[in-house]
Amino acid sequence: MKLFAVFGNPIKHSKSPVIHKLFAKQTGILQNYIKINVPINNFSQSIINFFQNGGLGANITVPFKKEAYKICDILTNRAKYSRTVNTIKITNSKKILGDNTDGIGLLKDLKNLNFITSKSNILLLGAGGAAQGIVYSLIKFGCNITIVNRTYQHAKNIVQYFKNIKKINCLKIEHLLNHLFNQINYDIIINATSSSMKGDIPNIPLSIIKPNVFCYDLFYENGNTPFLKWCVSHGVKNISDGIGMLIEQAAYAFYLWHGIMPDTKKIIIQYKKKIFDINHFSF
Ligand SMILES: NC(=O)c1ccc[n+]([C@@H]2O[C@H](COP(=O)([O-])OP(=O)(O)OC[C@H]3O[C@@H](n4cnc5c(N)ncnc54)[C@H](OP(=O)(O)O)[C@@H]3O)[C@@H](O)[C@H]2O)c1
Repeated sequence: MKLFAVFGNPIKHSKSPVIHKLFAKQTGILQNYIKINVPINNFSQSIINFFQNGGLGANITVPFKKEAYKICDILTNRAKYSRTVNTIKITNSKKILGDNTDGIGLLKDLKNLNFITSKSNILLLGAGGAAQGIVYSLIKFGCNITIVNRTYQHAKNIVQYFKNIKKINCLKIEHLLNHLFNQINYDIIINATSSSMKGDIPNIPLSIIKPNVFCYDLFYENGNTPFLKWCVSHGVKNISDGIGMLIEQAAYAFYLWHGIMPDTKKIIIQYKKKIFDINHFSF
C-alpha cells in the first residue's frame, strides 16, 4: 500500500491521519497514512529514512516547516516565496518536491465561508511560520495585507520575502491605532498568532473590531477560541476557527500526491459538529 505520513513534534494530537483516511475512503485510493514523531535534531535524516523505506509523500508540521523548505530539491512558488514547506513528495527522478498548501487551504475556506473577495483588506495578526505560509495565496488572489506582530522585525521579514510580488504593509501595534484613526477599515482580521493556544488574545485595540468585519482564527479547539470569543463579545457576527483551513490544506496535499481533489464540504460539516468517527461518514 502507498505510504504517506505527517512529521512533527509533538504529533500525538494531529487530526491529519483521520482526514486523509476520509479522503482515501471517498476517492477509493488505497494509502497508509501514519504519524511520525521526529526528535528535534533528526528531521532531515527521518525524511531520508522515510523515502528509503518506500514513503511517497508527507505533511510537515510544527516545528519543522522551515527545515523542510531547506531540504527540498524543487519548490512550488507557494513554498519558494513563503520559505516554508508543509507538504513534500518524492518525484519519479527521486527528487524531493516541496509545496506549501496552508495559504491555498485558508483561501479556499475563506471562499467557502463567503468571507473574502479579491479586494479584501486584510489585517494579519502574527508573523510566525503560519503567517509566512498564508501570505502568498492571499496576495496572489488580489487582497491587500497589513501585518501586525508582537515582534515587529518578524513582520518586516515577511514584507521583505514578498516584496517582488506585492507590497505588504506592516505596523507596530501602537501604530495600528493611527491607522484606525485615519479611517482605514479592515474587511477580515486573521489571527495567525499562537496566542489562543495559551488562552490569550493578541494585544490589539478594540477599535479594530467593527460589527461587519470577518474574524478568522487559524487555531481551533472545542468551542470558540479566546480570540473569537473576544470578537463575538464585541459584536462581531461572522467568525470562524481554522478547522476548515486544516481540511482544505490537507485536500491540496492529497491532490499533489494523487492528482485527485477530494470533496471537502461534508467533511468540514462533520468536523464542525465534532463527529470524527470514520464509520459515520457517507459520501
Ligand atoms: N488551521 C490550520 O490548518 C493551521 C495551520 C498552521 C498553523 N495553525 C495555527 O496557527 C497558529 C500559529 O502557528 P505558527 O506555526 O505560526 O506558530 P509560530 O511560528 O510559533 O508563531 C507564533 C506567532 O504568534 C505570536 N504570538 C505568540 N504568542 C503571542 C501572544 N500571547 N500575543 C501575541 N502574539 C503572540 C508570535 O509573535 P512573535 O513573533 O512576537 O514571537 C508569532 O508571530 C497556531 O495556533 C497554530 O495552531 C493552524
